[in-house]
Amino acid sequence: MKLTFSVIKADIGGYVGHSDTHPEVVETVKKVIEEEKEKGNLIDCNILTCGDDIAIVMTHTHGVDNEVVHRIAWNAFEKGTEVAKKLKLYGAGQDLLTDAFSGNIKGLGPGVAEMEFEERPSEPLIVFFADKTSPSAWNLPLYEMFADPMNTAGLVIDPKMHDGYTFEVLDVYSGKAVKLSTPAELYDLLALIGSVGKYVVKNVYRNYDGEIAATASTQKLSLMAGQYVGKDDPVMVVRAQSGFPAVGEILEPFARPWIVEGWMRGSHNGPLMPVSFEDARPSRFDGPPRVIAAGFQLAQGKLVGPTDMFRDPAFDKARVRAQDMADILRRQGIFEPHRLPAEEMEYTTLPKILKKLEGRFYDIEEQRLEKGQVMEKEDMD
Ligand code: F6R
Ligand code: MG
Ligand code: MG
Repeated sequence: MKLTFSVIKADIGGYVGHSDTHPEVVETVKKVIEEEKEKGNLIDCNILTCGDDIAIVMTHTHGVDNEVVHRIAWNAFEKGTEVAKKLKLYGAGQDLLTDAFSGNIKGLGPGVAEMEFEERPSEPLIVFFADKTSPSAWNLPLYEMFADPMNTAGLVIDPKMHDGYTFEVLDVYSGKAVKLSTPAELYDLLALIGSVGKYVVKNVYRNYDGEIAATASTQKLSLMAGQYVGKDDPVMVVRAQSGFPAVGEILEPFARPWIVEGWMRGSHNGPLMPVSFEDARPSRFDGPPRVIAAGFQLAQGKLVGPTDMFRDPAFDKARVRAQDMADILRRQGIFEPHRLPAEEMEYTTLPKILKKLEGRFYDIEEQRLEKGQVMEKEDMD
């Protein structure tokens, strides 16, 4: 039996500001999907939250991009939005960019990460969920998990992993994707995915047999709406063990925090801090960016879990280091490289400021020459 694992997420209202979700909203979303499970439309479901975002986790047999499943998520977010509006939560319904659902939730605002596979005799997987960052935040850890033997010993040791993995990389501006096989094309892969404003990893496949290993949400809300509407805080699903990286190899990149984009006003770089479910409520300068890891085992599609993978004190040092990195970046204030570079500010106020000042720019060299000529003339007079 082919099973589909779907995670669909949205920010439908923040409490307070952009910090957290409200329990009443989360309960409402949960109730809608549980009713669908009762009706037999889903095998199982669960809800995760990270910052002001809610993720609906669903297992079913309808396949990816399925209208029934996407509609369930859309309806749940709409019902949740009604409560968020009643409570006047901040940005209520902000990620639902249209009034009408039209068959597929992609392009309508919410983020989607789905994969279809034959459930193995034991199927451990991890759902990563981040707030105050963008899907390219997964580029670095996906490289380490699936292509760096210094992180993932299994690439050297496990015969099923020894042929490497293929990364499907999406250019978020053109919508075109390319598949690159590692280790052979590793340097080509890194040349692309190091450009986090342009390229994001969509899927990872095992070369040994083509099995799907990981999938991520890749929506770029700012590009979809043509104006800044919040960062598209991403989700990612990674399968673990027996031929895939071990749980510990999957989590290891997060023990060494790195810098991602999306902090304050979606316009700043900051460290991605791995936290427990409980601590996924960013408030310092609306951050710093957070990531949670929810571990599940599947049993005939039933979700056994989640377990809170970053609750491990072994990640405490990463949290402290992330705070040190946050202090260093905060010192920069509005200056790069804390604030994003100009190209990335395209959907914010920067173009308006440039427009306003357009007619006031002059060629400094020309002006100098003109001044020089005037002075020369004055001297001659
Ligand atoms: C939201 C975010 C926040 C907001 C900021 C300003 O994802 O990252 O930092 O951008 O709180 O929000 P507004 O413009 O809604 O007042
Ligand atoms: Mg928000
Ligand atoms: Mg958010």
